Amino acid sequence: MLFFKKQKAVAVDGPAGSGKSTVSRLLAERLGYLYVDTGAMYRALTLKVMRNNIDFDDEKKIVEISSALDIELVPSKEGPNSIRVMLDGEDISRDIRTMGVTGNVKYVARIPQVRQNLVKLQRKMICRMDGSVMEGRDIGTVVLPDAKYKFYIDANFEERVERRLAELKAKNYPITRQEVADDLKQRDHADKTRKVGPLRKAKDAVFVDTTDLSIEEVVQKILSYIKK
Ligand code: DC
Repeated sequence: MLFFKKQKAVAVDGPAGSGKSTVSRLLAERLGYLYVDTGAMYRALTLKVMRNNIDFDDEKKIVEISSALDIELVPSKEGPNSIRVMLDGEDISRDIRTMGVTGNVKYVARIPQVRQNLVKLQRKMICRMDGSVMEGRDIGTVVLPDAKYKFYIDANFEERVERRLAELKAKNYPITRQEVADDLKQRDHADKTRKVGPLRKAKDAVFVDTTDLSIEEVVQKILSYIKK
C-alpha cells in the first residue's frame, strides 16, 4: 500500500513556528494533492480528553479514545488552502488552536499506543487520494518512511518566536514575546525528547532553512526539488 503511494507522497516535518503548515497547505494546493495536518489530529484528541475531564495520567483511557477517534480533515469553504477539522461530526477547527490545547498536546503525544493509533489513521487518510502532502514531526521517519519526497523545515529560534507572536497578535491573543518564547522552548523540548516518534530530520530529507525566506520562496524551493 505504501509502495503504491510512494511516488506521490510528500512528507514535511519541522518544529512549531518554522512555517511548515502554511508551506504544506500551499504545496498541496499547487500540486493538487490532499493536505494532511497531523498536528491537528493530536490536538483533536487532546481536546476530546479535556472535554471529557479525563486525567492526562490516565493513559489507558486516552489510548482507548485514540483507538476510536472520528476525525476528518475536510477542505474549507475558505479555499483549498485551508481545512476544517471535524471531531465526531463537529467543526473544532478553532477549539484546537487555544493555548490550553497547545500546552496539553504533549501529554497525549508521548503515549506510544496513541501514536500507533494515529499513525494508522494518517496512513489510511492518504489512501483516499492520488497524492498527498503530510506535515508533522515524525512523517519522514515513522509515518511515511517510503515517501518519495521528504523535507525538514526549520528557522532560527528568534525568527520562529517573531512569527508565532505575529500570528497570535493578529488573532488579538494577549501574550508577550517572553511567553511565546517559553512556550516554543517547552514544545521543542517535548517534541525532540519524546521516546516514540520524536521530532527528527529523516536521513534522506532535504533541510530547508526558512529564516530569511518568504513563504513563497520556500514553496518555490520545495517545488523545484519535486520537479527535478
Ligand atoms: O503541528 P502542531 O503544532 O499543530 O502540532 C501540535 C502538537 O502535536 C506538537 O507540539 C506535537 C504533536 N505532534 C506530534 O506529536 N506528531 C505529529 N506528527 C504532529 C504533531
